[in-house]
Amino acid sequence: MVNSFHEIETPFFILDKSKLDQNINQLKNALNTYWPNYIIGYSFKTNALPWLLKYLQRCDFYGEVASSDEYCLAVATGYPCDQIIYNGPVKNEETFIEALMNGAIVNIDSKLELDWLNSLLEKTYQQFKVGLRVNFSIEDFCPDDIGYEKDGTRFGFSLETGELYRVIDRLLATGRIQIAGLHLHSTSQTRSINVYRQLAKIACKINDDTGLVFDYIDIGGGFFGGVPNKPTFSEYLSAISQELKKNFDVTKTKLILEPGSAIIGSPISFLTSVIDVKDTKKSRIVTIDGSRVNIDPLMRKSAYSFNVSTHQTVRKINPKQIICGFSCMDLDRLMILNNSHVLDVNDRIMFNMVGSYTMSLNPLFVNFFPPVYIKDGDCLELARRKMSINDYLQIGNSVG
Ligand SMILES: Cc1ncc(COP(=O)(O)O)c(C=O)c1O
Repeated sequence: MVNSFHEIETPFFILDKSKLDQNINQLKNALNTYWPNYIIGYSFKTNALPWLLKYLQRCDFYGEVASSDEYCLAVATGYPCDQIIYNGPVKNEETFIEALMNGAIVNIDSKLELDWLNSLLEKTYQQFKVGLRVNFSIEDFCPDDIGYEKDGTRFGFSLETGELYRVIDRLLATGRIQIAGLHLHSTSQTRSINVYRQLAKIACKINDDTGLVFDYIDIGGGFFGGVPNKPTFSEYLSAISQELKKNFDVTKTKLILEPGSAIIGSPISFLTSVIDVKDTKKSRIVTIDGSRVNIDPLMRKSAYSFNVSTHQTVRKINPKQIICGFSCMDLDRLMILNNSHVLDVNDRIMFNMVGSYTMSLNPLFVNFFPPVYIKDGDCLELARRKMSINDYLQIGNSVG
């Protein structure tokens, strides 16, 4: 246990437990207000830090997994099979069957899974419950939110071509399959409330068209959480429940949410130190010991929430400082500071709200994975040590 992060060698991630708890509580409070019959499935892909997965399991979250590897990770980190939501088109047959036989929520997303299900029906006399991922042109209803206006989105069985209803008819005709739910996750660029209103409306339309009463409507993830001036959980859930209540009874149909970013984006920061400052003909280059690959692996961000701490007593202003990462890519430039205090070697820059799609997308590029600390009150606990050469060699030598 360490008492101050000033004592710790940079770079490292810090997970602030009080902020995590705040996101969890705010989400549960909103659900209890607007749809008290619910399941929260944490999206593993957003950040699968084992400490976090175990902690959320103890907070009654289910694990939302999207591959056989993530499924096995859920089992290994303590999620009982009937508290796993198994999504995505890249399951494998073994874990698909294991999940179905042991009460996981399985949302089918590919024709291959329908073939596996048919073979399973031939081998057993059991009844099974499945959910189906729905594909519809949400981008036409929310043109400013989704993207893919020309080509449409890719996941699920198409409502508009009639494929979804053909699949439903085929499964019901077996007499041993219950269509337990609909999976409606849609990634949006804006995380706008309007997207969820549309998803809920589509669930109602499918209920109108088929007369099926579902055990659950899985509205997916993609929410904001803990971010100032953005929609709150209450605002999302008020809109969702307003629509869903038109067709579904809260006592009969569970609402499933699959948040990732909304839970873990805001509680994680990344602390770095300045390791070099130099002037070129055109700019002042400030190099830090963290990289864009740590906190912007998809190279999309143009701004960060950050704080600087310095030992300098007299602070001058510099018109333009370019903050660059440790890697040898020239594009490893995090931000430009205009007319701000001069940075010097050993000054520290803390990047805030960098918990989602960062650690899970970190490459092993130039430096191995940095450590992760949990901040609980005044104490810091090491949750993941810095990846060592031996860890790396073990990955490389695992065959033979
Ligand atoms: C099926 C599914 N559920 C949940 C999520 C989590 O999304 P977010 O981290 O934006 O909340 C994703 C992310 O792509 C997803 O594909």
